[in-house]
Amino acid sequence: LNESLPNLTKRDRFLRACRGQPCDRPPVWFMRQAGRFLPEYREVRAKVDFLTLCKTPDLAAEVTFQPLRRFGFDAAILFSDILVVPEAMGLKLSFGAGEGPRFADPVRTRDDLARLRPIDPGRDLAYVPAAIRAIKAGLPDGEALIGFAGAPFTLACYMVEGEGSASFARVRTMMHADRETYDALMRRLADAVADYLLAQVEAGADAVQLFDTWAGLLDGPTWAARVAPYVRTVLERLDHAGVPRIYFAAGGAHLLPHLATLGMEVAGVDWRSPLTVARELLPPGTAVQGNLDPVLLLGPADTAVARAREILVEGDAAPGHIFNLGHGVLPDTPPATVSAVVEAARGFRSRHWT
Ligand code: CP3
Repeated sequence: LNESLPNLTKRDRFLRACRGQPCDRPPVWFMRQAGRFLPEYREVRAKVDFLTLCKTPDLAAEVTFQPLRRFGFDAAILFSDILVVPEAMGLKLSFGAGEGPRFADPVRTRDDLARLRPIDPGRDLAYVPAAIRAIKAGLPDGEALIGFAGAPFTLACYMVEGEGSASFARVRTMMHADRETYDALMRRLADAVADYLLAQVEAGADAVQLFDTWAGLLDGPTWAARVAPYVRTVLERLDHAGVPRIYFAAGGAHLLPHLATLGMEVAGVDWRSPLTVARELLPPGTAVQGNLDPVLLLGPADTAVARAREILVEGDAAPGHIFNLGHGVLPDTPPATVSAVVEAARGFRSRHWT
């Protein structure tokens, strides 16, 4: 390593990679790095339900720290859930044991839409900025802190369906059958999400990620016409917040050519799109985040590490790679396999750092 180069803090390394600048090695964090695969998380969850955990800043901070202490990730992600925003808008949210999220009163008509409250995140979601301040005050090793929100379409999927679904046919029908209600809902969500992310930045988030988990259900032109304008609204409202913006459309290989107009600093890439292909389709200078298949963490550690090394080499074709999974850590993942992969990434040396 060249002696004249500075030692990067974890936060610097993460922010430089987001901006497409060379780093000693790619920063590493994993989507869903906190959660049920960790025994120390299950211990906290044995005492409180999931929403209480999200709403108690000291506990949310504690579970945010757990994967940092265990694995040495470069970035923390706020412990929360995308669905706290629709809950703050007035929908009744529950997480049944093993069932996933449910809204008792889904949004299906104009009248349902009229029931939604405008939100002031500082008041209605005050526990989130409070958690961010608690996390920033206690980060173990100068990590970056990533805030996040669900993207408008993915939030609409759950709000209209009322629960998880393979096809989210209700919102996708509304999009065509009741265009006005769909557009009004998406406008409301884009405003709420932008306000919410700005509140997170004000509280200390160093970067923000928009999770568009279900965007990949749509064909490219439909996504471009009916989803992208609202993503753009959110990203534009964050233009002057001074933090990198990450947009992650899971299952979105076919959307990559359409992402060019969004203007985010970082594109999340899932395991179906090689990083090289993603980079060719994105505007020059866009950083890429990904993209180890989380299923590989369920199998032999040496297979996962070998694939991680390929991704590290591929990512190093240009500056601006954040090593991550292609989607969240699965609940049955052995922590030892995560350690092995993170160690491989932390031991990698970038050829751009000379
Ligand atoms: O990444 C992190 O470590 C931060 C925490 C985080 C959670 N949810 C915690 C959580 C983040 C970033 C999310 C985002 C989220 N939530 C998404 C988008 C991310 C993605 O995977 O694309 C979605 C679709 C949701 C909605 C949601 N929340 C579902 C479908 C579920 C149930 C599935 C499951 O794993 O049980 C949740 C619950 C949830 N969110 C848990 C955690 C740790 C499990 C709750 C528990 O029982 O402890």
